[in-house]
Amino acid sequence: MKGNFPVAKWNGVQTPFYFYDIELLKRTLATIKAETDKYGFCQHYAIKANANPRILKLIASYGFGADCVSGGEVQAALDAGFDPHKIVFAGVGKADWEINLALKGDIFCFNVESIPELHIINELAAAQNKTARVEFRVNPNVDAHTHAKITTGLSENKFGINLSQIAAVLKDAQTLSNIEVVGLHFHIGSQITDMSAFKDLCIKANDLQNQLEAQGFTFANMNFGGGLGIDYHHPNHIDMPDFASYFAVFNQLVERREGQAIHFELGRAVVGQCGSLISSVLYVKEGEVKKFAILDAGFTELIRPAMYDAYHRIENLSSDLPQETYDVVGPICESSDVFGKDVSLNQVKRGDLIALRSAGAYGEVMSSTYNLRKLPAAYFSEDFE
Ligand code: LLP
Repeated sequence: MKGNFPVAKWNGVQTPFYFYDIELLKRTLATIKAETDKYGFCQHYAIKANANPRILKLIASYGFGADCVSGGEVQAALDAGFDPHKIVFAGVGKADWEINLALKGDIFCFNVESIPELHIINELAAAQNKTARVEFRVNPNVDAHTHAKITTGLSENKFGINLSQIAAVLKDAQTLSNIEVVGLHFHIGSQITDMSAFKDLCIKANDLQNQLEAQGFTFANMNFGGGLGIDYHHPNHIDMPDFASYFAVFNQLVERREGQAIHFELGRAVVGQCGSLISSVLYVKEGEVKKFAILDAGFTELIRPAMYDAYHRIENLSSDLPQETYDVVGPICESSDVFGKDVSLNQVKRGDLIALRSAGAYGEVMSSTYNLRKLPAAYFSEDFE
């Protein structure tokens, strides 16, 4: 089974380009909204997953907040119409101009990752005569059972404050006059499909909250980050993750205090399945032992296979001929520019349109101009209706 694309209406459209299925995105957003409303949870979309302005505007219109990791993202969130009081700003290395921008924009809070950062935020807030709201990002030492390059919650990772140091950091914060501590923040990694990792996170967070309360610290907010994975192998059958089960885990396991707000920062799960990279076949090359389908898209448009050995389902949208086996590669002068090895595709010829599926998250936004290539264009299903 292949995805349903308006191929006939793409005549003359230059490849490669990103194509977004807006109906699916709306359905996904409505599902997340329904599931979070059930429990009064707050969802801040992780802008890093896809910062296309049209996508951001649509997400903001569902009332979601935004999770940002740079001044550029904070600005993009403000421009797209996200409510500043629902914007959170994370990152281990926030530059002064980025902190100032966020203070001026009066965002909800900074997710702070170290004591030196806390002190700089305090100084910059004082200079603006403001109080900065902060959550501390705690590194809960939970194994997310995902790719090493996208695991973040282990003590060996650069992210967050270790469990053993958090009480001292909270004490330090009490001495700073322009800081208000509003909560704790966790994020254990990305593309997590095993709910037990999230269960472990809930248990660790409960233990920590109990310990810190015994020392007199209370928290109005608990933020559990993002990380829920999508089904890269079956985008046509499983076009969104099981949001109901995901949020139910937190509802069941988190020992929520009265009046406490629970926050999430999903990125991939929101936009991953709605996007595909559409590319044309330039050449079919017969090697000694392999056949190569050489595309006009490469890792400049979609870097995930080269960078993380990530799997993306590949479909030939132009052919119903019997399947053959190809290595599907791009034109970049690097041997890692491979989208898939030994991929079964309906027989391929020059000019066929190839879809790389599940590319809505960390696709367009990670594209580059390496080899002086053009950044890919983006089209939306509603453009072809
Ligand atoms: N919150 C924080 C603090 C994060 O660091 C991230 C992702 C998220 C939320 C959103 O995570 P998500 O729900 O999308 O899993 N480029 C990689 C993924 C990097 C994720 C970085 N942090 C990839 O293509 O797989």
